[in-house]
Amino acid sequence: MNLTLKIWRQKNANDKGKMVDYQISDVSPDMSFLEMLDVLNTQLIEKGEEPVAFDHDCREGICGSCSLYINGEAHGPDRLITTCQLHMRKFKDGDTIYIEPWRAKAFPVIKDLIVDRGAFDRIQHAGGFISVNTSGNTQDANAIPIEKASADAAFDAATCIGCGACVASCKNSSAMLFVSAKVSQFALLPQGQVEATDRVLNMVNQMDAEGFGNCTNTGACEVECPKGISLENIARMNREYLKASFKG
Ligand code: SF4
Ligand code: FES
Repeated sequence: MNLTLKIWRQKNANDKGKMVDYQISDVSPDMSFLEMLDVLNTQLIEKGEEPVAFDHDCREGICGSCSLYINGEAHGPDRLITTCQLHMRKFKDGDTIYIEPWRAKAFPVIKDLIVDRGAFDRIQHAGGFISVNTSGNTQDANAIPIEKASADAAFDAATCIGCGACVASCKNSSAMLFVSAKVSQFALLPQGQVEATDRVLNMVNQMDAEGFGNCTNTGACEVECPKGISLENIARMNREYLKASFKG
């Protein structure tokens, strides 16, 4: 396939940035999207030009770092996958592909297609954990009976990889789907009850402090989430927040 790529280039956080056109030829339909960008970068390096900076690590849908906005959709045209799992067979010869970084005030661009998702880390640090006594007397988690429906729902919430596609897809740049997944995975389990009140209050406060917008129930986040995190988690987080506000 021969393709035209229109890629966001931005030297650093202070640079204004612009879309730059690139022609790429002999792209195999079996390549992943990131492999196609590797080929482009090899060509740019051979010509003495600056390669395109983009984030990636696991390349198997686990780490959540491959945050690309492709033809106006987070992680491109496919559903329930990350950019590293997207294959070039989803495109056709002669296509023009627009490639941009996540767009959200709370995710500032560092360079080209790489954004700073440190805001998610700070939300996690505010409460996305449980404190465990590691003195040697800790009760084995498997010894605590948990009803299957709750265990399944907690597991589903825990599959969130923190990619930020929910924020990038939301017209309000809301982080509610991400935060609600992190709150839900503990709210559904007995181990999460001890710190439940502080967790939801602290995580929501940090989310607001980072400058994410609010949720207006549009649902774009759920559609674009590569892990299929359900909007039900947002409803659960709102209930947890209300409960904690009365207690607090
Ligand atoms: S909720 Fe989905 S889209 Fe949002 S960070 Fe988690 S995995 Fe990514
Ligand atoms: S590179 Fe890890 S999810 Fe894509």
